[in-house]
Amino acid sequence: MLVQASQGQSGSAHVVVLGNEKGGSGKSTTALHIAVALLKAGQRVASIDLDCRQQSFTRYIGNRQAWARRSGLDLELPAHHCIKYGETMQIEENENAEFQQFMEAVSAVERAYDFIVIDTPGSDSYLMRLAHSMADTLVTPINDSFLDFDVLGTVDPATYAVIGESHYA
Ligand SMILES: Nc1ncnc2c1ncn2[C@@H]1O[C@H](COP(=O)(O)OP(=O)(O)O)[C@@H](O)[C@H]1O
Ligand SMILES: [Mg+2]
Repeated sequence: MLVQASQGQSGSAHVVVLGNEKGGSGKSTTALHIAVALLKAGQRVASIDLDCRQQSFTRYIGNRQAWARRSGLDLELPAHHCIKYGETMQIEENENAEFQQFMEAVSAVERAYDFIVIDTPGSDSYLMRLAHSMADTLVTPINDSFLDFDVLGTVDPATYAVIGESHYA
C-alpha cells in the first residue's frame, strides 16, 4: 500500500482519499477499515462515497448499521454521505451538480469532524479528480502484481527500474 501524507489545513478535518485507477484494488474495503480504526481511536469521522454507481463503501456502512441494530451492539459509525452523478446530457451541468453536492457534504462536516474518509471510483472522473485535489493523505492500495503496478508506473522488464509514470500517477 502506498501512502502519501501532507499537512491538513488547521482547524478543518484531515481529508483521507482512497484512490487508484484500478478496480478491485481494495479502495472501498480499506476506506471502511480506516474509518472504523479512526473511530475506535476516538476520532470524529465523516465519510463520503464518490463511487456513486457501485456504492460499496455506502453498503459496508449500511450493513454495519443494520448489524448494530439487529445485534443491539453499539457499533461506531461515520457520518456518511453518498454523492450522486449528474445525469443530464450536459457535462458542465453534471459537473456543477456534482461539485455542489460534494462541497455541501464537505462543508457539513469539515469543522465538526477530525477526519473525512473519501472513497473514489476506479476510473478517471470529475469527482475523482476533485477529491484528489483535496487530499491531505492519499492512500493507494495495490495488489501484488505488475498489472496493478502498471497503472502507477512503467518498469524496465530486465532491471525492474521505474522508467516512467503511468496514467494514474
Ligand atoms: N486486504 C485484502 N485482502 C484480501 N482481499 C481483499 C482485501 N481488500 C479487498 N479485498 C477484496 O478485493 C475485492 C475488491 O475490493 P474493493 O474494496 O471493492 O476494491 P475497489 O474499491 O478498489 O474496487 C473484494 O472482493 C474485497 O473483498
Ligand atoms: Mg470500490
